[in-house]
Amino acid sequence: MRTPFLAGNWKMYKTPKDTQAFFDAFLPLVAGATGRDAAICPPYIDLHVAIAAAAGSKVGIGAQNLAAGKEGAMTGEISGYMLKAIGCRYVIIGHSERRQYFGENEAGVLSKARAALEYGLAPIVCVGELLAERESGSTEAVLAAQFDGGIAPLAPEQFAKIVIAYEPVWAIGTGKTATPQMAQEAHGAIRLLLNGHIGAAAGAKVRILYGGSMKADNAEALLAQPDIDGGLVGGASLEPRGFIKIVQAAQKLAPQRGQS
Ligand code: 13P
Repeated sequence: MRTPFLAGNWKMYKTPKDTQAFFDAFLPLVAGATGRDAAICPPYIDLHVAIAAAAGSKVGIGAQNLAAGKEGAMTGEISGYMLKAIGCRYVIIGHSERRQYFGENEAGVLSKARAALEYGLAPIVCVGELLAERESGSTEAVLAAQFDGGIAPLAPEQFAKIVIAYEPVWAIGTGKTATPQMAQEAHGAIRLLLNGHIGAAAGAKVRILYGGSMKADNAEALLAQPDIDGGLVGGASLEPRGFIKIVQAAQKLAPQRGQS
């Protein structure tokens, strides 16, 4: 069974004071929500405030990146060991902005996913095609290459602990959302890659989130698709009243998917 999972990716937004204000408003709204998982992934400097604010609630906190390895002479870096020590549960890996601006590639994604799992964090591994790749008909080939390089080499039992996020790059921050059908097609392709690699029973348990201009008014149609198990939400997660509407859209779904 796959429980819907809504995660906010705050990117480079909000100070610790803004973070406290978000949780002051968000936690009462989310208190009654059941049958879904929710998380917020703020910038590193906000993690302490977020973790303290969310303590005792069902909202998990994640980071947006990590360095492979435990500790060392790595100026400016933060490891999974450190993130776990302060109470993080999740970490986003291989976001397209990191691929685009920081040169991350499949080998790096794989080593970061391994490091996250080693220190007890659940990696949210991002995949997705560029506009030119979609227009040239190579979306499925791109997803397969990202899966093969960044995810498939994990040990079979580690798949129970990962989350995959499908984020078509052309839909991120642009207001252009993939239609529910387009998104389902890509999610279905990822599900087939999973099933082919770890078997259908294990593949059916992995959550695949959609990311890319998900908002209160399109969330329900996206989340109704059979292989869309939640969202990785950027802009619309910055505002408590907007994000709660997306969480509530997920709650309307029967959480019965993935049973085999
Ligand atoms: P937007 O929701 O702002 O398009 O961002 C999506 C995203 O990149 C989440 O990781």
